[in-house]
Amino acid sequence: MSATETRPTTPEALSNTEAIAWFNELVELLKPSAVRWCDGSQAEYDELCQQMVDSGTFIKLNQDKRPGCFLARSHPSDVARVEDRTYICSIAKGDAGPTNNWMAPKEMKGILNEKFDGAMAGRTMYVIPFSMGPIGSDIAKIGIQITDSPYVVVNMKIMTRMGTPVLEALGETGEFIKCLHSVGMPLHAGVEDVAWPCSPDPKDKYIVHFPEERSIMSYGSGYGGNALLGKKCLALRIASVMAREEGWLAEHMLISGVKDPTGKTTYVAAAFPSQCGKTNFAMLVPPKEFLDEGWDVTCVGDDIAWIKPNDDGQIYAINPEAGFFGVAPGTNMKTNPNAMKAIETNTIYTNVALTDDGDVWWEGMDGEPPAHAIDWQGNDWTPDSDKKAAHPNSRFTAPLDQCPTVDERYDDPNGVPISAFIFGGRRSTTVPLVHQSFNWAFGVYSAATMGSEMTAAAFGNIGKVRRDPLAMLPFIGYHMGDYLGHWLDFGRHIPNPPRIFNVNWFRKDEDGNFIWPGFGDNMRILKWIVDRAHGRTSSTESPLGWMPRYEDIDWRGLDFSREQFDTLMSTDREQWLQEIASHDDLFFQLYDRLPKELTFIRELLVSGLWRSPEHWEMK
Ligand code: GTP
Ligand code: SPV
Ligand code: MN
Repeated sequence: MSATETRPTTPEALSNTEAIAWFNELVELLKPSAVRWCDGSQAEYDELCQQMVDSGTFIKLNQDKRPGCFLARSHPSDVARVEDRTYICSIAKGDAGPTNNWMAPKEMKGILNEKFDGAMAGRTMYVIPFSMGPIGSDIAKIGIQITDSPYVVVNMKIMTRMGTPVLEALGETGEFIKCLHSVGMPLHAGVEDVAWPCSPDPKDKYIVHFPEERSIMSYGSGYGGNALLGKKCLALRIASVMAREEGWLAEHMLISGVKDPTGKTTYVAAAFPSQCGKTNFAMLVPPKEFLDEGWDVTCVGDDIAWIKPNDDGQIYAINPEAGFFGVAPGTNMKTNPNAMKAIETNTIYTNVALTDDGDVWWEGMDGEPPAHAIDWQGNDWTPDSDKKAAHPNSRFTAPLDQCPTVDERYDDPNGVPISAFIFGGRRSTTVPLVHQSFNWAFGVYSAATMGSEMTAAAFGNIGKVRRDPLAMLPFIGYHMGDYLGHWLDFGRHIPNPPRIFNVNWFRKDEDGNFIWPGFGDNMRILKWIVDRAHGRTSSTESPLGWMPRYEDIDWRGLDFSREQFDTLMSTDREQWLQEIASHDDLFFQLYDRLPKELTFIRELLVSGLWRSPEHWEMK
């Protein structure tokens, strides 16, 4: 659309003057061939899905087996978040901190304005008004995403509350976060479109945040957190900056409800790094003995929590999202039956394998692998193939309310009260199955120094332990030291802050096998956590914090010996002194803004270890 043509019309519900000005400016810059304001309707969703089937972006799955489901295959260069191309462009470099990439906003805008000039040539510019959180909730925030990807539009329809009602809520003067996205492949004359347009050169992708002006610009990728800007970019990076200023928390956490036999539901929020089990834990199915007795676990969210204190000093959390963008491989009827049920219908699959009968498959699904399939790159695949059929970071996008155990308050604008925080990384050694920190500050210390072996959700050195404070390393929108300070401060202002727990489902034996059965059996640990949060159960003091003894855990229905438990819970002094020494790498990096409490707590932990036996075991 050239600048000389008449301005495209805007929807009747749009009255926000800033949005109108921003939109008009972008039409001129992006030069799309058409403009479409998304109303968020089912008809619009269906139309775009059909359009993508026609263009080859979507494959319609067997509608008897997977009604309303589609498969997309991304370009092999575009399969996960790109942390090395993600920038926090705060005005001062120091405010982005040493854990984020930074460039001066002016310099970055110079680069990006050139990239975006004509970026939508030959394409439709979609405008997506969306709300993170229930529309109108005190905790919710509005964003407007502009994109040239219909794949993004339909995913945003599932992942957010999107469309006309958001424009109505925005009103004339409401605030919104500007989210500009392009796949970075303008269709200039002679350029043929492809099924998954993106900018294949890894250096030509930019995921950029301007925290002070609350805006996001993303160029070159169509995948996941790079492109669905409501998710990591808005709900974590930009929101974390707003949260600090406004006194709340934006976290990489699942939220779940634990109903006990008296009928009372206790809500917990848990932070595990990417691909470390948030979706599994959020949809946990307790062992039969627990279910029979009246225990139940319900799901409010599986990835992001926005948490605010109310006037009485209680803290409440909402899930800003409306869907799951979950990891497919490893999901099966045993590990996660609720996810399997949630993704039976109305689901978008990305980068999983296609079976000959038009169904999906991935490594770790139930039953035998299919004798033949088409892999995530569109090639023939058989079980003898040395390649994976599904990409390790292949995902499903499914509506939250399709989860059979969705919590009845998932859509409550006030959120749910949080009684415990749980932190956990993927550690094959050193870190015990569970411990409760002595108090809030010790809890923040353990969360801050959490380590995890890296997974395929991000480019990097898979398997290597990296420090991932509160599972927020890739998602914090400001200086990590200030963030840890904000956490300490947050707890100080709450009369009775939630208890903080640390878990590790991933400890391995000498043969490399997981010692802990995990998944549904994590309920045994969750029960102890909930009981502890209410002061209902006992524990013993270890050098790291409070720990359950063998007899404090409910073992009904599982044959797990005291010896096995002791192996999982033991702390080795040498290993822990080394572990704590390695926290220095993080602390030195954050040095000029590291809250001093953390240094003192480190000393207390070291002295506690020296007081304890060389190899501490449950007595
Ligand atoms: P993102 O969506 O990337 O933020 O990640 P997530 O934390 O939601 O990841 P997800 O739940 O999809 O993690 C999946 C991985 O964790 C798979 O490899 C699972 O097999 C593994 N996992 C989850 N729970 C357990 C458990 O209790 N024990 C073991 N051993 N593995 C688990
Ligand atoms: C993660 O990597 O933590 C995710 C997937 O939840 S993405 O949305 O792609 O970031
Ligand atoms: Mn995540």
